[in-house]
Amino acid sequence: MTQLRRNRWRVAAVAVGTLVVLVGAGVVRGLPFRRPPIHVNPNMDDQPKYRPQAVSRFFASGSTSQLPVQSTIARGELREDSVLFSGRSPFGSFVSNPLPVDAALIARGRDRFGIYCRPCHGEFGNGRGTLYERSKLEARNLHEDRLKETPDGRIFDVITNGLGLMQGYRFPIPVRDRWAIVAYVRELQAQGLAEGDRR
Ligand code: HEC
Repeated sequence: MTQLRRNRWRVAAVAVGTLVVLVGAGVVRGLPFRRPPIHVNPNMDDQPKYRPQAVSRFFASGSTSQLPVQSTIARGELREDSVLFSGRSPFGSFVSNPLPVDAALIARGRDRFGIYCRPCHGEFGNGRGTLYERSKLEARNLHEDRLKETPDGRIFDVITNGLGLMQGYRFPIPVRDRWAIVAYVRELQAQGLAEGDRR
């Protein structure tokens, strides 16, 4: 015991050293704690910031989300090309795809369709995607004659603004990607459904 007492500084040094090694090796790191960790080194792990739709004591409106300054247009958001953005001609009729339909556009459309449309309309557009597999709810079969005959601009309009039970995708899908999806839907319709996918 006296031996230990005599060596207490050495013992303490070894204990602290071991702790440092354990923490460094991540043994303590992965453990769950209820309280936020003590921040010894004020680095960029902790960045004070506003979260969207939170309360702010700084802005007069009391909200962290601020409206755009009135009568201003964000860069690249002028939307001069009304045909591209609405899918309609200046006279109001639906247009054909205003983008050059080539392999690259169709490939892009296929990629985006897989993300945004497939869950409901199915890989080949027969209206039986994951939604149907899980809940037996069918979305529209994109191979219906009526939809084969409908103009590109109308499909663009449905993607943009939604229709009935289907919500609009104007926010998650940028305008050119929406037209790419239209091109891909046309491609799917032209290919038709394989025997097993028909309804
Ligand atoms: C959450 C499920 C869901 C997603 C995702 C979805 N749709 Fe739909 N879609 C529907 C349903 C349901 C209808 C039928 C709407 C109705 O008639 O009430 C529909 C209808 C349509 C129609 C037919 C419109 C008409 O004239 O009857 C088209 C075209 C269409 N969707 C294209 C798309 C495209 C392209 C995407 C991907 C960008 C997409 N949908 C994503 C559920 C979905």
